[in-house]
Order: sequence, then structure tokens, then C-alpha cells
Amino acid sequence: ITCVKKLSESLINNLNNNNNNNNKIPSTYAYHTETTGLDLDPLHNPIPTIDLSLLTSSNPDHKSKAVQQLGKACQEWGFFMVVNHGIPEDLMRAVIEVSHEFFNLAEEEKPEFEPNNVLDPIRYGTSFNTAKDKVFCWRDFLKLFVHPHFHCPHKPQAFREVLVEYCERSREVVRKLLKGISQSLGLEECEMEKALELDSGLQIFVANLYPVCPNPDIAMGIAPHSDHGLLTLLIQNEVGGLQIQHDGEWINVSAPPNSILVNTADHLEIYSNGKYKSVVHRAVVNNEKTRISIAIANGPSADTIVGPAASKLVEKEGNGAGPANYVPMKYKEYILSQQSNQLNGKDSLKRLQ
Ligand code: SIN
Ligand code: FE2
Repeated sequence: ITCVKKLSESLINNLNNNNNNNNKIPSTYAYHTETTGLDLDPLHNPIPTIDLSLLTSSNPDHKSKAVQQLGKACQEWGFFMVVNHGIPEDLMRAVIEVSHEFFNLAEEEKPEFEPNNVLDPIRYGTSFNTAKDKVFCWRDFLKLFVHPHFHCPHKPQAFREVLVEYCERSREVVRKLLKGISQSLGLEECEMEKALELDSGLQIFVANLYPVCPNPDIAMGIAPHSDHGLLTLLIQNEVGGLQIQHDGEWINVSAPPNSILVNTADHLEIYSNGKYKSVVHRAVVNNEKTRISIAIANGPSADTIVGPAASKLVEKEGNGAGPANYVPMKYKEYILSQQSNQLNGKDSLKRLQ
């Protein structure tokens, strides 16, 4: 069996028809990695929750406390849940549904969305980078550049309208979070968004489809990696699968209804000069239910050269800061290097010392 898109139909039909050695997945998908993660105690769940309404509160005490919590979440976890974010639950559901409808279109309707290169604004594909992947991921994806220019397939019909709204509102949430993060780094509220030219920031919408997998214990939905960009926002249908790495352990993360999961990404690590590390995460699969997740990567402007914040976080005139830990690099070049290779942890992020 070769690697084909719409994993769900082609691959699984094939497995069922051939009934080959008890539905074992093809060896090209055999990951041979322990896929189980730790379940957290629901009563003492340590994953930080950020209340966005407090972060934008007019009460200075509430606000400074929220900024402090946000900084702590970035530093200790690189991962948190956002509540009171203002995005309607109906809209979140609609995004998931319309993405599912896209994947369900017949394959003959989709070749026009297949990319020629990694900077194409609409990319429908499977695994991560099938030209490089040694083991394929049990995943189909649709990646769309949605800001500064908006791109979206013309079908299903409702796709564009739903996406425009969701992406705009996500950008608002990200802007509020980044203002708080900027302050938590001891910088002016708007310093980071100005330095990284967020008005023309690159926003990438990624819909992931993880079909039911007959051998979830030896398959991987998406291999361990950190994201490029500043912050990734993630929502999912009711099916779990995301795991984050924390203190050397894989932790299963679920999303309470109506919350948004957020992880810190490589360019926040670079900009903060290593204070806020990007979090390594992966997605595992299951043999009962199809999982859909919607990730929105929010980054600097594609042409911005990103290095550690020079004003305060790199040593200068006895300001107490340490040396720069990362080489400045254009955001676009970074994406190209990451997307053209195998997905492998934090390989793309190069520290100086
Ligand atoms: C991703 O990291 O891009 C997707 C993670 C997920 O599906 O939960
Ligand atoms: Fe990711």
C-alpha cells in the first residue's frame, strides 16, 4: 500500500478488503514508539488556565495578576488553556464541522488543492512531508495561509465565511495574549507586536484529520515537534489525542468544552531569548473515533528577522541580561527549513550555547 491522501477511505478500505494479518497497518506507518501518555488527576489538574477577561480587565490588580500567571504558564509549561476568550462556541463547532466536510469531499474534487511547494497558500496533504518522512503519520491535513492574505478552498460552500470569522477572532485572542506576554517579559505592552510586525503577521490555519486506526499503539498521528511562530491555538472535536512533553513525560491533554488550548512556539522562544521555551507535542490516534483538530499558528510577518528582544533581554550597558542565545533569522526562511525536512522534535531551532 502506498501513501495516499484521504487516509481514512483508501487505506482503511484496503485493510478491510485484504484482511491482511489481523488489520495490521502497513509497515510504512509503524512508528515503534510508546504512545501512551500520563493522565492527569482531573481534580488536581496542573495545566494552567488563563482567564482572558482578567487579562484585559480595567482593574489593574486583576490585570497584573493575570499577566503574572500568563508569564508563569509560558515559563513552566509552554502550554495553557484559555477561558472567557469571547469566541462563540457555535463558531468553534462550525469550523470543525466545515473542515470535516472538506475532508469528506470525494478525492476527485481535491487535486487542485495539492501543493507544489511548502509556501503554497493552500495545501492539502497527508502525513507531514511525504518526500522526507521515514515513517508516515496517520493524518491528513489542510493548511491555509489566512493572514495577511486570506486563502480558502471554494468548497464546501460555507468554508470561507466560517473561516474568515474564526481566524479574525483567533487573531484578537492572540493579540491580547501577546500584549500580556510582552509585559510579563518586562517589555512595553505593544513592544513585541511592533517588533515582530504583527499587523502583517502570518497566520496559518491547519485542519488535521486523524482517522480511526486499527493499531493505534504502533501508529503516530503527528510526530513530536515544536511549532514555528509565536502561539498556536488549538481546538478539537470531542476526541482526545494531543500529548505535550513536560518534565520528560508525555502528558495526555484534553480540552474542556469551550476552552482553547494554546502552546508557545519557537519564535516566542527566540524572541524571549530562551525564557519561554517552545513546548514539544505530538498527537496519538485511537481505534474508535475519528479525531479532528484545528490548529492556528500565529507568527511574525513572513519577512521579519526574528532574534531575541534587543531592548531588554540581551546584555547591553550593564542591564543584567545575558548574551543572545539565538541567531536572528527571517521567519520565512525558518518555515522553509522546518517544512522541507522530516519532523523531528526541535531540530529547526538552533541555540547558540
Ligand atoms: C499539531 O501539533 O499540529 C496538531 C496537534 C493535534 O492534533 O492535537
Ligand atoms: Fe504542532
